[in-house]
Amino acid sequence: MANSSKDPLWQAVVSEETHRFPAMKDDIETICTRCHAPMGNTQAKKDGLTTYTISQMRLDPLGKDGISCATCHQIDPQNLGTQTSYNGGYKIDTTRVIYGPYQNPLTQPMINFVNFRTQYSPHVNNSELCATCHTLFTPYFDDNNQIAGYFSEQTPYIEK
Ligand code: HEC
Ligand code: HEC
Ligand code: HEC
Repeated sequence: MANSSKDPLWQAVVSEETHRFPAMKDDIETICTRCHAPMGNTQAKKDGLTTYTISQMRLDPLGKDGISCATCHQIDPQNLGTQTSYNGGYKIDTTRVIYGPYQNPLTQPMINFVNFRTQYSPHVNNSELCATCHTLFTPYFDDNNQIAGYFSEQTPYIEK
């Protein structure tokens, strides 16, 4: 998953979709990068940007790093397993807490080296964490380019 934003097949499919719907290019790319370049997309939102396109991603080292350690381990438990967590609805806040599966971790080394505070949380062992990106409902359009419904593109967690 670390290569998710460099993946040439993914980039080709994104450009094919924006070729078909040029008016929606920025929206499509901002949606696709939500799961395939989650660090860059999340940072862009925190910086107040309204888009995170492929060209923004290509200039951004965070975007090129795809799904890193810090993505999964910072996902907050609050909305996991609910509809708002799907479609890349993972929540990452700015507290620099990094969640792990072990109780009472030794926190000081990571604070010293990378300024992340490790914290035990049982949600790290639950598939709801993965379901944030591995559940995808894709909107489809009618002849007037209006959203006509949602297609269940990937739902392995819901099918469990
Ligand atoms: C909700 C998160 C999410 C969003 C949004 C998303 N994807 Fe994905 N995508 C995934 C996941 C997860 C996989 C891996 C699926 C698997 O193999 O089980 C994937 C796989 C793919 C693959 C296959 C990659 C390969 O090398 O096999 C393509 C192509 C792709 N996505 C295109 C897109 C495009 C185009 C968009 C935007 C329109 C998009 N995705 C938006 C989560 C997402
Ligand atoms: C796709 C999400 C994801 C990514 C990316 C990820 N982790 Fe994890 N990590 C998990 C989950 C889920 C667990 C708990 C699973 C378990 O304990 O079997 C875990 C467990 C751990 C543990 C606990 C020790 C252990 O081995 O049981 C450490 C340490 C860790 N990860 C470090 C990292 C580092 C370092 C990276 C980047 C190189 C990374 N993780 C990337 C999801 C992820
Ligand atoms: C931030 C979004 C995100 C999270 C969280 C996430 N994934 Fe993924 N995962 C993806 C994307 C995007 C891909 C597809 C990458 C590509 O091929 O371009 C993927 C691909 C995969 C693949 C490869 C599938 C294949 O068909 O090759 C596996 C396996 C996988 N993820 C397991 C997990 C597990 C297990 C977790 C939870 C510990 C998890 N993922 C969490 C986004 C995510």
